[in-house]
Amino acid sequence: MSFIYRDGLLHCDDVDLKAIAKAHGTPVYIYSESILRRNAEVLKTSFIDRGFKVSYAMKANANPAILKIFRSYGLGVDIVSGGELKMAQYAGYEGSEINYAGVGKTSDELDLALDTGIAYFNVESLFELEVLNEHAINSGSKAKVLLRLNPDIDPQTHPHISTGLRENKFGMAAEQVTDILTKHQNYAGVSFEGIHCHIGSQILRSQPFDELIDYLVTYTAELEKRGVEIKHIDFGGGFGVNYEDPFEDILQTTPYLNDFAEKAARDLSKYQLHIQPGRVLVANTSVLLTAVLGVKENHGHQFTVIDAASTEIIRPALYDAYHAVYPYQENMGVHMSDVVGPVCESSDFLAKGRQLPKAVAGDLLVIGSAGAYASSMSSTYNLRPLCPEVLVKSDGDVAVIKRRQTFDEMIDLFKL
Ligand SMILES: Cc1ncc(COP(=O)(O)O)c(C=O)c1O
Repeated sequence: MSFIYRDGLLHCDDVDLKAIAKAHGTPVYIYSESILRRNAEVLKTSFIDRGFKVSYAMKANANPAILKIFRSYGLGVDIVSGGELKMAQYAGYEGSEINYAGVGKTSDELDLALDTGIAYFNVESLFELEVLNEHAINSGSKAKVLLRLNPDIDPQTHPHISTGLRENKFGMAAEQVTDILTKHQNYAGVSFEGIHCHIGSQILRSQPFDELIDYLVTYTAELEKRGVEIKHIDFGGGFGVNYEDPFEDILQTTPYLNDFAEKAARDLSKYQLHIQPGRVLVANTSVLLTAVLGVKENHGHQFTVIDAASTEIIRPALYDAYHAVYPYQENMGVHMSDVVGPVCESSDFLAKGRQLPKAVAGDLLVIGSAGAYASSMSSTYNLRPLCPEVLVKSDGDVAVIKRRQTFDEMIDLFKL
């Protein structure tokens, strides 16, 4: 069950997508509860059942209805801001189920996290450690810390989503991490629990992860020689998916998941292992349904103008990312064209220079893999209200899990 053509019309499980367009308008993100549950189940079997702690990186999609489903499979949550902390709590997560990552945390955010009693802070710099230490001492608590190591490993992905290379802003060099861990007595407000690494996102091959495991085996042995004991190793996320076929199961999109889990559990068996996947859990759970406004030609170049835009999926504009485009009605012819939105930027395209459905005004199109880094990166640029999100539930009901923003709600924030 998933997104599938029935009698030539695209459905989410048994629900006809046109019925959703009629009831909720377009553009609209449509999520499948059955795929969300399937993905959580795969991660549970591959990792949690092997002893890993899995925390969903909610930056990929922060909808609380999704968070709630993942929590029911025993997943914790990985946050990067005070807003994400509040949303995780709203979805029912306890402090002990929350990790806090990110390269810059404000004093207010650190205090909020300390007050909430979150499980771990993934600390990325000496300045952050010093501020956290001071705030923990002032609040009479002890912050559990994993230090984020930048191992200088190439994740073989787009440069904008590489994070573990020496030129990236993330983490700290091994020498600095070692230095901090051997001087831990200087930080009375902190308990050093382990090492965190996250080398990048949309990693499609196992080799960078294998390299990371080998690196950590060597690094932790060196730490041990220096008398430093740690308990936790956190690999972050980064598991890539197949954007070319958004309707594939994650065991096909990300075939190395089990091998990675097995190798890590074998080679680093002394440690409590953690992962923080985002994309792999949600990318294939959603499509963005959009209506065609019209078709135009400029100097022989075809443009299909739709009512969705980079405000709903910014990834093509940000990283030239590929998203598959499907017609609602199967077997529509194709032509060489761009699919573009109404936003006033030349980078406002969803697909470029490809064989794409030959649609006309009023037709419905679907943009695939809209579950990850789509809604969570959406904006109101050009004062376009945020669009709704619906969940096709396992029992066939369609639930609105985020309503469309009104013009008044957008304008309300401003003052004349
Ligand atoms: C620290 C950290 N952990 C986890 C993730 C999740 O990555 P992904 O969605 O690629 O699994 C990210 C993504 O940027 C991250 O920065």
